[in-house]
Amino acid sequence: MAKPASQRTLALLTSGGDCAGLNAVIRAVVHRAVQGYGWRVIGIRQGTMGLLRRPVDAIELGLTIDDGKLLRMGGTILGTTNKGDPFAFPGPGGRKRDRSKEVIEGFRSTGADALIGVGGDGSFAILRRLAQQGRINLVGIPKTIDNDVGATESSVGYPTAVSVATEALDRLQPTAASHDRVMILEVMGRDAGHIALAAGIAGGADVILLPEIAYTVAAVAAHIETVRRQGRNFALVVVAEAVKDLTGQRVRQQHAGGGLTYGGIGHSLGDALGRATGAETRVTVLGHVQRGSQPTWSDRMIASAFGVHAVDLIADGKFDRMVAWQNRSVVDVPLSEAVVAPRQVDPDGALVRTARGLGICLGDG
Ligand code: F6P
Repeated sequence: MAKPASQRTLALLTSGGDCAGLNAVIRAVVHRAVQGYGWRVIGIRQGTMGLLRRPVDAIELGLTIDDGKLLRMGGTILGTTNKGDPFAFPGPGGRKRDRSKEVIEGFRSTGADALIGVGGDGSFAILRRLAQQGRINLVGIPKTIDNDVGATESSVGYPTAVSVATEALDRLQPTAASHDRVMILEVMGRDAGHIALAAGIAGGADVILLPEIAYTVAAVAAHIETVRRQGRNFALVVVAEAVKDLTGQRVRQQHAGGGLTYGGIGHSLGDALGRATGAETRVTVLGHVQRGSQPTWSDRMIASAFGVHAVDLIADGKFDRMVAWQNRSVVDVPLSEAVVAPRQVDPDGALVRTARGLGICLGDG
């Protein structure tokens, strides 16, 4: 960045599915860039979609955005999208076309010297490609309720999602006990079972089913029988959305207006468990409730640390890096480490051992 510091402009966008804590990131970036370095900050609206519009859809982000509420607010004031990959942009008749040059031109038209992209592994793969093609100085901040970004122990949004899922179990337990029911809670997480595992342990689940560990209905039913024999009249089952059903398929939902997501395994599991155990089952699909909450303290803290560190990286001229949470601290790693492969639950890891040690059934016998 050859310009004098006072004339520098930093662009910021949020990309992929929203989650709690994104506004805390935006606030931290603005504080550090404006107060710490005297830079101008612009926020690109709707992720890379904002860079496809002409004029580019961007807003000035000054210190006045911090109205006291921003830190506490769910969602993202910049908007976001998990569609519209500029390298395969959906066109009429389902045809895809490469609009990456337009995005890069859009970025150049803002006069920004660097870009902070707040996203998950999918967004980082796209932003990295754009950065390489357009020589954009990019720094990434990991966010996703799924917590599947590599090289970081936590991503923005994950703690809040776990907290929401845990609270759901807190609310399901008394009604399950009152009605002698098996309650099934379906949680998000894509191909990773981090939300299911953490919330299941914290919320006292009897059964946790993860995409990383194959289960059988017979094993789950046998565990519910054991729970009954031990004198308990109810059971709590947490199932991650990408777990396979009895036919070996992951259950997906095609949404009107486009979009294919996981979802629906809870109901087929509830039916199967009802048949296998004779228990009355009820299913709760938690869905986007996990994304929309006020961020927890830890999400706000990590978001703030990430925002400040990302701006400091740019000030130091360090690009193509991602901020990460490791060993109780904020660090930075090559962005390439984040996009290698989604980080799944380690079936031999500490939390799986914890679950087994607590007598929780993971569906594998
Ligand atoms: O990646 C975040 C996530 O919430 C997943 O857990 C879920 O499978 C997906 O996004 C839902 O996507 P959409 O917002 O398009 O329904």
